[in-house]
Amino acid sequence: MSSGSTGAVLLLLAFSLLACLCLHYVSRLESGPVRWVHDEQRELSAHQRLVYEAAGRQNTSGRAVHPQTSGVYGDRECTMAPEARFDCGRDRSLTRGECEGRGCCYAPLAGSAGPPWCFYPRLYPGYTMGPLTPTARGQTASLTRRQPSYLPRDVSSLRLEVTEETAGCLHLTLKDAASQRYEVHLPGGIPESRADNQSVLYATEYRSDPFGFIVRRRSNGRVIMNTTVAPLLFADQYLQLSTTLASSLVSGLGEHYTSILLDLNWTSLTLWNRDMAPHADANLYGSHPFYVVQEDDGFAHGVFLLNSNAIEVMLQPAPALTWVSTGGILDLYIFLGPDAHSVIRQYLSIIGRPMMPPYWSLGFHLCRWGYTTSNTTRRVAQRMHDANLPLDVQWNDLDYANKRRVFTFDPWRFGDLPETVDGFHQRGMKYILILDPGISSTGAPGTYPPFDDGLKRDVFIKNATGGILIGKVWPGPTAFPDFTNPETRQWWEDCIRAFYAKVPVDGLWIDMNEPASFVQGSVEGCPDSDLENPPYTPKVVGGRLNSGTLCMSAQQKASSHYNLHNLYGLTEAHATHSALLAVRRKRPFVLSRSSYPGIGRFSGVWTGDVRSDWEQLRLSVPAVLQFGLFGVPLVGADVCGFEGDTTEELCVRWMQLGAFYPFMRNHNDKPNAPQEPYVFGQKAQAAMRTALNLRYSLLPFLYTLFHHAHTSADTVARPLFMEFPTDPNCQTIDRQFLWGSSLLISPVLEPGAVELAAYLPAGTWYSLHDGRPFYSGGQYLLLEAPLDTINVHVREGHVIPQQEPALTTTASRGNPFFLTVALSAGGWARGDLFWDDGESLDTFETQNYCYVVFIAGQSQVVSEPVDLNGALDGLVLGGLQVFGVPSPPRFVLANGEEVRDVTYRADTEVLTVTNLALPMSEVFTVQWAL
Ligand code: GLC
Repeated sequence: MSSGSTGAVLLLLAFSLLACLCLHYVSRLESGPVRWVHDEQRELSAHQRLVYEAAGRQNTSGRAVHPQTSGVYGDRECTMAPEARFDCGRDRSLTRGECEGRGCCYAPLAGSAGPPWCFYPRLYPGYTMGPLTPTARGQTASLTRRQPSYLPRDVSSLRLEVTEETAGCLHLTLKDAASQRYEVHLPGGIPESRADNQSVLYATEYRSDPFGFIVRRRSNGRVIMNTTVAPLLFADQYLQLSTTLASSLVSGLGEHYTSILLDLNWTSLTLWNRDMAPHADANLYGSHPFYVVQEDDGFAHGVFLLNSNAIEVMLQPAPALTWVSTGGILDLYIFLGPDAHSVIRQYLSIIGRPMMPPYWSLGFHLCRWGYTTSNTTRRVAQRMHDANLPLDVQWNDLDYANKRRVFTFDPWRFGDLPETVDGFHQRGMKYILILDPGISSTGAPGTYPPFDDGLKRDVFIKNATGGILIGKVWPGPTAFPDFTNPETRQWWEDCIRAFYAKVPVDGLWIDMNEPASFVQGSVEGCPDSDLENPPYTPKVVGGRLNSGTLCMSAQQKASSHYNLHNLYGLTEAHATHSALLAVRRKRPFVLSRSSYPGIGRFSGVWTGDVRSDWEQLRLSVPAVLQFGLFGVPLVGADVCGFEGDTTEELCVRWMQLGAFYPFMRNHNDKPNAPQEPYVFGQKAQAAMRTALNLRYSLLPFLYTLFHHAHTSADTVARPLFMEFPTDPNCQTIDRQFLWGSSLLISPVLEPGAVELAAYLPAGTWYSLHDGRPFYSGGQYLLLEAPLDTINVHVREGHVIPQQEPALTTTASRGNPFFLTVALSAGGWARGDLFWDDGESLDTFETQNYCYVVFIAGQSQVVSEPVDLNGALDGLVLGGLQVFGVPSPPRFVLANGEEVRDVTYRADTEVLTVTNLALPMSEVFTVQWAL
């Protein structure tokens, strides 16, 4: 539908609605126009005008006097279906009188949960939009509020700016027209000019009075957003915007403990970074004001609100959504896809694509709180090695630090930490330790340089009166670095450099960076102010914004902590990434607990203090998938669980699932029973070894997926709906997931299970273990899942590059490659491999890598290497397995020469070729004659 005809339909609809309302109200209310504008300013004719703002009369105090709604709103204005009611008492609960005093409808329902009793009538006074005027890439208009809302400190004149960023991305901002308010500045900024020449996927319409807008998908007219359903509110500390949703299939708005699809049954989600172990109805460590909607026909779109204040999002079954923020501006990006992959690409073009992780960071990591000496730490790694269990990275928690002070190590228990780390390096392993942001503030002057130096350089967050704000974390009283201050970033780098000179760490684990504090606000409490006690506080754990963190009135270089709180982890991750880069001159590895959009550029994320239980195992799948949507592909949960004792069975299943987290670390809390793989019985250890070896064999493929995430904003661990958007069965699946587009992982998530109902989308899927084909019409199949097995299936038409596993990636990277070729019904398959030295900076950007495409068809596999830097020199293809070969081959040729080590299984139709030694850096061909 063209934008013109869309507009015509809309005008017609608006006409019928308004005309009908008009009949109803015109006799009672004073006159004032509702105006619709479609792309350019266009008013409705006089008889289409409707009156709504009887409420406009002012009393002497200047507050609006609203008509008594029982008489006025008792019927049509208030008769919307309960699920379509928008809460007029979101900021506080209201009596009938107070509700009607606001000019809202009051209609009690049974029960206290569910639809609001006090809700906006269909038309409610709001802002009036002036004429839209064209700008270089969009339009602008001013909005004015003629009468105050019910909130304190309305911003009465706003500027609307609409920018067509690209064909798929529409950008809409609403800010104070008269004065500068706080706005988010993502580290590194947002790329400037993104205009392209394709025709835009969206069409916009505006209602000028009261202001609202509609965004449609141009190709089919579907309404993506419609904010005319409830009023826009924009007061100093309360911004509210409601919209309808195109479907009930909504994902995102993290970080929360939920399924991949959000519950729209009158739920609210708060985005306020908080040190809080994952559980339902709580704001957790990260904030991601971004959602993706699956539309009915396989299309998808996304919406990002670039705002770092405390945000609450109300979801209701209409389906509809209301954003409430306690500050900043309304800065909305709308991504039209049209498919979910494109939505994520469009989102990441705004917040930044993820970093390329070092190869070793995809190996297995082992950690716990309670490796109390360097001796113990070394022994752990040795026991892994002795049990033939792969381990790339050994970690230490706070145990290493002297009096829990970061940038120090305990001289008695960890006196030989430098030598210990050297020892790990000599074995081809890496070493990481924890780094909390809180800097102990109680040492005698001259005893703790990070604090002394920080004081001198004025790097710490201040309290409202300009003194250093002191909170309490693990070492006791602490000051908090202000990472929005460039001097702090330099000081942080200096601290890291000085520590690195003694302990050459390979990466840093930044924890407690919400930032967490064990006292409310500060050791001195917080002053009584509008920042500490805003007129409205979203539903946060602890009830107050400063619970478990700093005072809101604390001062940072860029603004108050009230505005910057949600950015603390992001700014710390940025500073830590830059420092590691400057100090090590290699690809940095940072793992952060707290997160905000854009963090994937600098860091991976883990999902915090998960409990060792089956429910947490199960919900770790959607948690990992959601971080993929947020541009943080390097993510995992603490394998075997952090809090509480694990069991052998749970830990086996968690190691199996963890082998398919993009980031795999087993981590445990101090008081708990040990959970390193070698502490379990032989059978359990064998199952864990199998899972680890499977992961290690797949690392070339996983690394290639990360390359595509880094260069093209593809997801790594991927929900099924992204890959099979027109299959309704895939819309909700979050017990299974994909790696890229070709590996389907179906973990066991319940105790005692020996089989599993797994959904296989239509097509042929081959078991990765033995190549057995499953022909699916898009159905659930009952699969065997004994304790030693995790089900993994390869999608037809794909080639997976693999490598013989080893105990470290340093060793495995030299091993022979092999290919798993999963032929399509027509006998074709394709795959690729990205390869470089695994740790140099910007290898793709500087063409310092190799890239190989593998193509199978007509009974042969051919490689097409683009050998740009020789990284594959000396590496060979040792063999391949071809799934779906219908009959035994008469002979097999490798580069034209017959090979002997060939097996064929008629029952599974798998051809296996071993003992090859074909150089990976040269073109090779393996043919089989049928
Ligand atoms: C926090 C972290 C946890 C860590 C602990 C001690 O709870 O989430 O992973 O082990 O602090 O540093």
